[in-house]
Amino acid sequence: MPALLGALNLRTNEKVYSLKVVQGDADDVVALGWEFQHPQDLQNYVAGLQAKNYAIAENSDLAADRHVQRLFALADLNNISHEFIYGLADTDAALAANTTEFMTENGIGHALVCAQNKADSLKFYQDLGLGITDTILEEVMPGMVIDATFMHVNGRHHSFAFAPMPPGSKKVHHIMLECLSIDDVGRAYENCIQHKDNIVLDFGKHPNDEVFSFYVNTPSGFAIEIGTGGKKINFENWIPESFEKLSAWGHKPKL
Ligand SMILES: [Fe+2]
Repeated sequence: MPALLGALNLRTNEKVYSLKVVQGDADDVVALGWEFQHPQDLQNYVAGLQAKNYAIAENSDLAADRHVQRLFALADLNNISHEFIYGLADTDAALAANTTEFMTENGIGHALVCAQNKADSLKFYQDLGLGITDTILEEVMPGMVIDATFMHVNGRHHSFAFAPMPPGSKKVHHIMLECLSIDDVGRAYENCIQHKDNIVLDFGKHPNDEVFSFYVNTPSGFAIEIGTGGKKINFENWIPESFEKLSAWGHKPKL
């Protein structure tokens, strides 16, 4: 049994971390964070979920671990914990030189999780307050249909998405981080090549969020999508759309 390692806190902005990596039996993404700007908004949100009989509970120990002032956790039916937080700490520690610049005004990006039951998952995530941006239904190979639903909470095209995945898949298919420029994406790609990381999908562009990106596998088996150019939406009067292709071009397995 290898010695337990401390947490690896990875930053994208002035916050003390955006991704927290710890050694664990799950070897997967186990929690996603949703940050509120005002404590009363978080309080009201939690009260709304409790009124719908969801067992959302405050967890002070976890809040301390996560460097936030308040934290309420709720597990979804796909075994992912959603952590609704206020007061993620800032840090003024300098970032490494020549680091990528990230677009984080509406969150750091998005997560696409594996969900086998579309109807129940959709109801749950809508109860969380997520709105449908669009869906993509594509037969990616004979007999294998991907049916993905993309959901928003603010002006970002989607902060969350779900789709059925083959048995044995990780809980999360990928986490997307949005960079400011194509140069940042290119530098990240070059770093991955240099370090012989497993690029699972090469450069491509999605038709719905218009993101230009590539996908690299983590050692745990889920992917990180590094992209730029994400579409902004007017989420207050958005009408859901549908698409028939996951990618307008590219996103092919790297040879
Ligand atoms: Fe994505």
